Amino acid sequence: MSATELERAVVDVLIDEESLQARIRELGEEISADYAGKDLLLVGVLKGAVFFMSDLMRHLTIPCEIDFMAISSYGDATDSSGVVRILKDLDINIEGRDVLVVEDIIDSGLTLSYLMRNLEARGPASTEICALLTKPERREIDVPVRYTGFEIPNRFVIGYGLDFAERYRNLPYVGVLDPSLIESGA
Ligand code: IMP
Ligand code: MG
Repeated sequence: MSATELERAVVDVLIDEESLQARIRELGEEISADYAGKDLLLVGVLKGAVFFMSDLMRHLTIPCEIDFMAISSYGDATDSSGVVRILKDLDINIEGRDVLVVEDIIDSGLTLSYLMRNLEARGPASTEICALLTKPERREIDVPVRYTGFEIPNRFVIGYGLDFAERYRNLPYVGVLDPSLIESGA
């Protein structure tokens, strides 16, 4: 089978669909046990976490609510600066709520570190992080991640919600972006 236009941007499939779904099922079971009897609110970080969050919540066996935030981190195409702007805030008041932030990937940690401080100032009962992917080698600031899907090497990945210049989110797996596309800025 020949590669589709989308697949030509991928030099390596890092996590296939089956492995993603198997791990997300495990995370769902763990979160369901930990939050039993609590008032769980999943906060998804737009746009990358949308695929992960919708699959994750289907594996939760406890009641939960969802809300979304959109933030933009100033920086270039592949590096964030830690200077963060809220583009869309939560609709829900999180005071007294058990908040679980659902993120696609933690790289330097700067974006999430800002976001957690911002949420904690609103008086939630608890705040935790669930990240599908993490690149430990790239961490510049410590963020306590309660649930991690996969630790990955220091490579720029696309698919399953993750983008390069807003594209490739619709690949059903996580793949490594062809580095020549980063250099050419395509
Ligand atoms: P941080 O502030 O450096 O942790 O950056 C986190 C954000 O950068 C994530 O929410 C992603 O939007 C983006 N990001 C970091 N690494 C990658 C990657 O490998 N592929 C796609 N997006 C990434
Ligand atoms: Mg992004």
